[in-house]
Amino acid sequence: MTASERPGVIRNFSAGPAILPPVVLDRAAEAVRELRLGGHDPEAPGIGLSLLEISHRSKPYDLVTKGAEELCHEVLGIPRTHQVLFLQGGASLQFAMVPMNLRREGKAACYIDTGTWSSKAIDESKLLGETRVIASSAETRYDRIPAMPAADAYAGASYLHITSNNTIYGTEWAAIPDAGDVPLVVDCSSDIGAQPVAMERIALGYAGAQKNLGPSGVTLVFIHRDLLAEKPAGVVPKYLRYATHAKEPSLYNTPNTFGVLVLKVMLEWMRGEGGVPALGERNHRKAAKLYAALDASALYTPHAQPGSRSLMNVTWTLGGAPEAEREALTARFVKEATTAGLDGLKGHRSVGGLRASIYNAFPEAGVDELIAFMREFERTA
Ligand SMILES: Cc1ncc(COP(=O)(O)O)c(C=O)c1O
Repeated sequence: MTASERPGVIRNFSAGPAILPPVVLDRAAEAVRELRLGGHDPEAPGIGLSLLEISHRSKPYDLVTKGAEELCHEVLGIPRTHQVLFLQGGASLQFAMVPMNLRREGKAACYIDTGTWSSKAIDESKLLGETRVIASSAETRYDRIPAMPAADAYAGASYLHITSNNTIYGTEWAAIPDAGDVPLVVDCSSDIGAQPVAMERIALGYAGAQKNLGPSGVTLVFIHRDLLAEKPAGVVPKYLRYATHAKEPSLYNTPNTFGVLVLKVMLEWMRGEGGVPALGERNHRKAAKLYAALDASALYTPHAQPGSRSLMNVTWTLGGAPEAEREALTARFVKEATTAGLDGLKGHRSVGGLRASIYNAFPEAGVDELIAFMREFERTA
């Protein structure tokens, strides 16, 4: 059945805030009406109040935040050596908090540049101290993940920062690299929980929740406790210290209580789907069929090179069309796809072309519908 045969159903390819499973939306709506102490069991006692109108220091909210923290370990595989934090300010605030907290006296911060988001992280670090970009794929329009530099390129650094998935360009590290003794910092905003990865290699990870974990306005941070105990190179305002937020976890000031609840419900959904291993298998299947359709086409040209292709954000152009017609044809593709119920396929403004974001919650049937639409569009283009 194609999307146009299912009136009212929209396949949501948005890069973020992104699709959420219907059951997660239902449970979030229930908690907005009345929070239940025992979770989502309809028999569980309601507290007589909405989640939105209770104190973040109340017993019911304590169950929400502690439950979410526990699920981050259980479902996402965040090691027990790490403190889980739910912060605000998006992943963008982490671009600044990381160098503020992790720079060490006399040591450079090292970065691998894989596009817009890593460049923004690099800019923040440069404001604070010596910053070395030890690899970049800028020269090939960020169509790949550069080779991991040899250890002496980052030996003695305060930390090494990578972006595990580049939402805009559609590239992703095939595996989390081993940085040895140098703390590895990973912006995993757009691929956390997408497949099993070596979480134990990450000293500090951060992810804006609005792609694979829930709504915007809450940022998951996980940090090895050893790093919390170390002294930053400069003065860091109290609010911007990880140690402040770790002391009474995620309760230093009023948190995004709704965001944390949705994140918890999302993690419960992930667990119910078979966890990250099962979601990973599904994600590989979804992405593989979409890349196969792109590779087999004379009209579509995938942006990301094999070996660096993202499971979550698939990017391509209409490279097979004459250059003079490409822009108009791309606009027609987006318009006709939207009419067919395939929403959010326009590429990011900085790269153009098309992008299908197929996060954990995106159903495989939607990928099949996109492929069918693409074939039909190519036939008639
Ligand atoms: C990989 C990555 N890092 C950082 C950001 C910025 O996130 P935020 O808007 O939460 O600050 C994004 C947003 O799309 C992203 O995809």
